[in-house]
Amino acid sequence: MLMLISSHAGRTLNHIPRAISGAFRALLNPAVSQRNNFKMATESDQRWNSDVAALREEISKAKHIVFMTGAGASAESGVPTFRGAGGFWRKWQAQQLATPEAFESNPSLVWEFYHYRREVMITKHPNKGHIAIADFEKRLSNQERRVSVITQNIDELHRQAGSANVIEMHGSLFKTRCLKCHHVKEDRNSPIVPALADRGEPDADADSSRIPEEQLPRCSQPDCDSMVRPHVVWFGESLDGVNLTAIDEELDTCDMFLVVGTSSVVYPAAMYAPMMAERNITVAEFNPEETPATDISTYHFHGPSGNFLPEILARHPSEPAE
Ligand SMILES: NC(=O)c1ccc[n+]([C@@H]2O[C@H](COP(=O)([O-])OP(=O)(O)OC[C@H]3O[C@@H](n4cnc5c(N)ncnc54)[C@H](O)[C@@H]3O)[C@@H](O)[C@H]2O)c1
Ligand SMILES: [Zn+2]
Repeated sequence: MLMLISSHAGRTLNHIPRAISGAFRALLNPAVSQRNNFKMATESDQRWNSDVAALREEISKAKHIVFMTGAGASAESGVPTFRGAGGFWRKWQAQQLATPEAFESNPSLVWEFYHYRREVMITKHPNKGHIAIADFEKRLSNQERRVSVITQNIDELHRQAGSANVIEMHGSLFKTRCLKCHHVKEDRNSPIVPALADRGEPDADADSSRIPEEQLPRCSQPDCDSMVRPHVVWFGESLDGVNLTAIDEELDTCDMFLVVGTSSVVYPAAMYAPMMAERNITVAEFNPEETPATDISTYHFHGPSGNFLPEILARHPSEPAE
């Protein structure tokens, strides 16, 4: 059974205030602020190392490659990210509803929101990036090399693509957790309960349903029947201790760190790339935008991750034939 563990002080899900993330960057790379000024002056200058062949060489020598993925890794599957136009549901930004306070004050509204996201996901499939990562893991596992994915995504698309070593650090849309007995259950019903059928419309003028609590998803454990919540980590909550330990183990032993489709502003995920860079581990970022992780990355591939990952993760000539 997975339970919320709060013993990891300071490891709650949170945004890094811009000032702090800037200071953190400057700490790691004192040339950052200078370089930012330079960037503004020379827009056309090649600002990033985007050398595919060089990264492929480095990857071919790595024994333990870790991917850190975020909502952008699923963008090409048609899953909205939290930032940009897709970030709103009705009049709320997703971050306003993904909180324990929102659920406490209006569980019906939060369940409508998650019901909407679950129903959207049923129509989505892994994209080229997910598949390239999963194929890479399968291939390297035959060479006694390890590939793992630490994902902030709750959409399960990495698993659907065939990745086996996946840590879903923020939980899953398709699991529920009982508020009383904490039982975690996989639930793929559509709708999750009859009362949510035809609910969850994302339009700004849609009315909230105020579904009575007894009609919202309930625990199936004998003698419980308490209300359940989505088994996801909300803003302000601690991450699961088992996942944190597993993440630490991956980070302690990896020798290559690839950051895919994350804005690198949600803590603690955002701290991992700077930690790796500080240990002189190669960090490669895949993102159509610059992020707080860009300056500490050895490589930055500017565009949709699905455009780069299949080529970069393809078999290297030094690998044995299958
Ligand atoms: N699919 C999901 O499960 C999902 C969707 C939305 C939000 N979230 C949650 O959002 C929180 C926000 O953090 P986040 O950093 O994951 O997401 P985010 O929404 O903050 O940032 C998404 C990032 O992806 C980049 N991006 C957009 N399209 C891309 C593409 N095709 N290829 C590569 N990058 C692309 C954007 O430039 C941006 O930096 C997390 O807690 C996460 O659990 C998850
Ligand atoms: Zn229960």
